[in-house]
Amino acid sequence: MSVFRTKTVEQSIRDAEGGEHRLKRSLGALDLTVFGIGVIVGTGIFVLTGVAARNTAGPAVALSFVVAGIACGLAALCYAEFAATVPVAGSAYTFAYATIGEFPAWIIGWDLMLELALGAAVVASGWSGYLTSLLKNFGIYVPGSLAGEDPVFNLPAAAIVLALTAVLVAGIKLSARFNATMVAIKLAVVLLVIVAGLFFIKGSNYQPFIPPSHIVESKGGLTAPLIQVLFGVQPVVFGVFGIFTGAALVFFAYIGFDVVATAAEETRRPQRDLPIGIIASLAVCTILYVAVSLVVVGMQHYSELSVSAPLADAFREAGQTWLATLISLGGIAGLTTVVMILMLGQSRVLFAMCRDNLLPRRLARVHPRYRTPYLITIVIGGVTALLAGFIPLAAIAELVNIGTLFAFVVVSIAVVVLRRTRPDLPRAFRTPWVPVVPVLSVLACAYLMLNLPVETWLRFAIWMLIGAGVYFGYGRRRSRVTVPEERVLEN
Ligand code: ALA
Repeated sequence: MSVFRTKTVEQSIRDAEGGEHRLKRSLGALDLTVFGIGVIVGTGIFVLTGVAARNTAGPAVALSFVVAGIACGLAALCYAEFAATVPVAGSAYTFAYATIGEFPAWIIGWDLMLELALGAAVVASGWSGYLTSLLKNFGIYVPGSLAGEDPVFNLPAAAIVLALTAVLVAGIKLSARFNATMVAIKLAVVLLVIVAGLFFIKGSNYQPFIPPSHIVESKGGLTAPLIQVLFGVQPVVFGVFGIFTGAALVFFAYIGFDVVATAAEETRRPQRDLPIGIIASLAVCTILYVAVSLVVVGMQHYSELSVSAPLADAFREAGQTWLATLISLGGIAGLTTVVMILMLGQSRVLFAMCRDNLLPRRLARVHPRYRTPYLITIVIGGVTALLAGFIPLAAIAELVNIGTLFAFVVVSIAVVVLRRTRPDLPRAFRTPWVPVVPVLSVLACAYLMLNLPVETWLRFAIWMLIGAGVYFGYGRRRSRVTVPEERVLEN
């Protein structure tokens, strides 16, 4: 029994069509694009723009968004080919199973929990921060033990996760409708920032656009970026190098376009619509991000931007308090959909893993009325709520980045592998210039990963080792690829 056994693309597609493990196909290209925007626009633009401009890139943070957008664009082209060829829930997990083998696929599925469940918990605690700051505007103060910087239990974060779990169980179409409303509010607010902000831009704030670089005190030990430890690179901020460091940070803002691929089995015409959904949502967000960041650094000098709510605070500084309140509300709506869709993606990935018997198959049962994988959704909701409630998440947010980048690397490699091993498969969308685009995608993602701290790499390694343990202790012997179907059903 090789741990590199693969599951054929045909078998993956057949499994997706089986009775009680079948999802309902109701989404089109527009739904998917809205889904994509719903999960992409969040903490990244509403919070990290300020941090990146102030600490590493200055007004050139707009260029950091361009760089990160290009890196994600390369990966998105690879995801689009896979999603069109293997339109099965599970995204990178399914793609790896069809190409590199079962163990790498398991590892990717395990890794995706960092992006999806942990990502949802991180954004939920950001949501709680926005809510408490908005409530403050109305004179309502939430006790510090229940929310804020260092709560004993972050009640709003856990509560929003549980509420969204209920929405997800109730059905994909309802989730899509709820999402569409929230996305409309969020986009309106982002456009408001761009248009209203134009009136408050001061040309002098753009001088210099790329502030001169300077060397910063070396952050030794575990908090230093891996690249610095490996190559003895001096950490600098600002200048051209600062644009790239900023890109590694604002990468978080783009996380989510790949989640569109997890809705493959709920899409009516996946071959056509998945590539459109993935690429269109990424393109729209890139344009919005560059515009928003240009406006915000024009409104306020980069050194004065707020690090917790830069968009709203830039308006408050300009004396526009009610606009600032409106933007905070948009931020809350925006973050809500991010949490919801990250959990949705997580449920679909685990659903695919349970269906393959690498995790208990019972959990993959679909609700008879709502047609959603309700058991797995409830488990994820419970775990994410606990994570969001108890763990100081700011410290482990970088784990989300490394987990996502690792999945991008594997998918980019897998596109090239599948072209070699299965040239015959119908590919409704083909990544251009293979292998150049996948290779560039791997290099770009690897570079961003190297910019993450050593401690993040260590946590990542520990998580992966636990995953390997679970595979060898549980999934390897039970896998559906080797165990006859009758025995699987008895399980
Ligand atoms: N891209 C998502 C955000 O910025 C995860 O919140």
